[in-house]
Amino acid sequence: MSSNDGIARLRTIKQQFDAECVSVVDHKSLEDFRNRYLSRKAGVLTLELQSLGKLPKDQRAEFGRVANEIKTEIEQSLAALAATILEREKQEALACGVLDVTLPGNRRRIGHCHPLTIVRKEIEDIFISLGYTIEDGPEIESTYYNFDALNFPISHPARDPRDTFYIAENLLLRTHTSPVQVRTMEKMQPPVRIICPGRTFRRDAFDPTHSPMFHQVECLLVDEGVTFADLKGTLERFHKQFFGEKTKTRLRPSFFPFVEPGAEVDVSCIFCDGAGCRVCKQTGWIEVMGAGMVHPNLYGFVNYDAEKYTGFAFGGGIERYTMLKYNINDLQLFFQNDMRFLEQF
Ligand code: DAH
Repeated sequence: MSSNDGIARLRTIKQQFDAECVSVVDHKSLEDFRNRYLSRKAGVLTLELQSLGKLPKDQRAEFGRVANEIKTEIEQSLAALAATILEREKQEALACGVLDVTLPGNRRRIGHCHPLTIVRKEIEDIFISLGYTIEDGPEIESTYYNFDALNFPISHPARDPRDTFYIAENLLLRTHTSPVQVRTMEKMQPPVRIICPGRTFRRDAFDPTHSPMFHQVECLLVDEGVTFADLKGTLERFHKQFFGEKTKTRLRPSFFPFVEPGAEVDVSCIFCDGAGCRVCKQTGWIEVMGAGMVHPNLYGFVNYDAEKYTGFAFGGGIERYTMLKYNINDLQLFFQNDMRFLEQF
């Protein structure tokens, strides 16, 4: 075999390639076309290049030069073809509307706070602005802090294992955030001004107003000369700031072992402004919290001077405040992680 034969064959291959170019119309046929000439195992040009080794040494240089030239030309033609095809496909897509440039782009999803977190932070901000600090307490609590030191009698029904999750005889999942009152008073002497938001647990089945895990926020203020009027004023300020300035607050006598007197706290219905509607069952009021003046018995547990100090406390459910604020009618939505719900906040 002489290099002249080889070079002639290379030129024929190039002519063939040029002639066939016109039949390449899309990406698929371009791929086949490229493979026919350049595939590593069976490409026509590849095979021809492999014959280089069989040539006498003095003819290899010339053959190699021409072969590389042709290979470069073929590669350039293929690149040009690819660009033409891409452009044509784009124009065609535009023409038949497949590519609608007026569609909004792909928005990157950015995470955001859960509605319960939004409301917890808002409550925290309001109380911080009133001079309170945020306290934290354990979710696994002793019966001492959850019940005994809060003046719950041994026979109190809330202690029943049918209502409370016990981990051991004297250990449980806290049923309210009130134990943080005692823990805080143990730590510091008055003046005390704290709130404690956190998770709480009760043996309740899921339904639109119950969940075995939910959230509360507790408030405790102890100082000299604190009165029931301070309690009412604080609740009024909080509710006006949280629900809006026209919101009214009402206290009704009630009983909790750790306060005396105790009260149930209502806000004027935020849906009908107190006129009466389905949500407030035509009463114009919605119950939101328990509250009262700290029972003097508690001071005995924490070494406070009951002659010198008085204080108030209140506690309410964060789910309830969130449901009222955002008009949510099913508490279970908070825990189902349905994006259609969560993305609304
Ligand atoms: N801990 C009570 C509950 O879970 C709510 C409560 C009532 C908290 C009266 C208080 C209070 O601080 O004074 O039902």
